[in-house]
Amino acid sequence: MTDTIATVAVIPGDGIGTEVTPAAVRVLDETLRLHGTAIQWNWLDWGCDYFVTHGRMMPSDGLDVLADHDAILLGAVGRPDVPDHESLWGLLIPIRQRFDQYVNLRPIKSFHGVQTAARIPAGVDVDMLIIRENTEGEYTQLGGRFATGTQREFAIQEAIFTRTGIDRIADYAFRAATTRRNKVTSATKSNGIIHTMPFWDDVVAAAATRHPDVHLTKELIDALAAHLVQKPQEYDVIVASNLFGDILSDLAAAIVGGLGLAPSANLNPERAHPSMFEPVHGSAPDIAGRGVANPVAAVWSGALMLEHLGHAEPATKMMTAIATTLASPATRTQDLGGTATTSDVVTACLATLA
Ligand code: NAI
Ligand code: MG
Repeated sequence: MTDTIATVAVIPGDGIGTEVTPAAVRVLDETLRLHGTAIQWNWLDWGCDYFVTHGRMMPSDGLDVLADHDAILLGAVGRPDVPDHESLWGLLIPIRQRFDQYVNLRPIKSFHGVQTAARIPAGVDVDMLIIRENTEGEYTQLGGRFATGTQREFAIQEAIFTRTGIDRIADYAFRAATTRRNKVTSATKSNGIIHTMPFWDDVVAAAATRHPDVHLTKELIDALAAHLVQKPQEYDVIVASNLFGDILSDLAAAIVGGLGLAPSANLNPERAHPSMFEPVHGSAPDIAGRGVANPVAAVWSGALMLEHLGHAEPATKMMTAIATTLASPATRTQDLGGTATTSDVVTACLATLA
């Protein structure tokens, strides 16, 4: 009898989310089948189609439904005719906040054969881990728009930085660095943002004293963005606030080949709640429905999920399948200069696993 390792809620969402998520599930299923195990999937049709019918992105008890699962696998949400703040604040952000998924882990790697946007010396690899604070910072609902529609209209958007919030994300970053190259770069802007960012710097520096083996550097976000393009290979772990981490991870993904290669894990490290795994990219309406989306970010997110669930060995096999598939020009999608379809990439991954 097959041993079920976990019950996972799967929300393909919108656009290419509905193409790359089934692709990831196929690769996960096959990987686990070869290990004599399986995941029990609970498919949920939430997202913008659901919104258009029901006026909300998920049912009112949606978060309670998700709470009963070991993990959540998400595609992407967003449709051009639904305002983005409805789709993100109606599903993605409530999940991250309710389940206290305060770590957003975004690994970035260069792959053999894939053209990078940055000039990286031959034989040198990019291998960094962006650790984005995921529950506070610049993404809060505090504020508002006032005197709407008049000349006097104005908007206030508050950012929230708490000692607990900064301390726990910094601590996670330092611990992650000890399993890697012992380097943490903290993204800051304490020259221009005079309250929250100096506070961020202070709390990160205090956390550093608890991890004496790790070398901490702080870099202003603008200079850091430039350095990332010039010398991405020098970075190991980058810890950043919600907004800075969001922007840096798209930039870093573009450096190694694009958003089709960028996975993420929204983690509740204490495991009091389910964690959520999703590609960094969105629903890509410009290419949706054509079967050409790169499924690598989604498949890799699935591997991060297996790792989190305590199954490192099959996760490593999935990563080998991804690297082997990317190494061959015939099995690269159009975003990487190839002509392969989503399903060609899946077929290649499955063949490598066998
Ligand atoms: P996007 O990530 O969907 O697309 C940006 C560009 O990258 C597009 O040209 C797209 O074709 C390309 N791209 C992205 N993923 C790709 C893949 N797997 N293979 C090949 N090419 C890929 O970002 P955009 O266009 O800013 O947003 C589209 C929608 O997605 C919006 O509604 C936005 O709010 C939403 N979004 C949702 C996210 C989520 O659910 N986590 C994250 C980011 C955006
Ligand atoms: Mg983003």
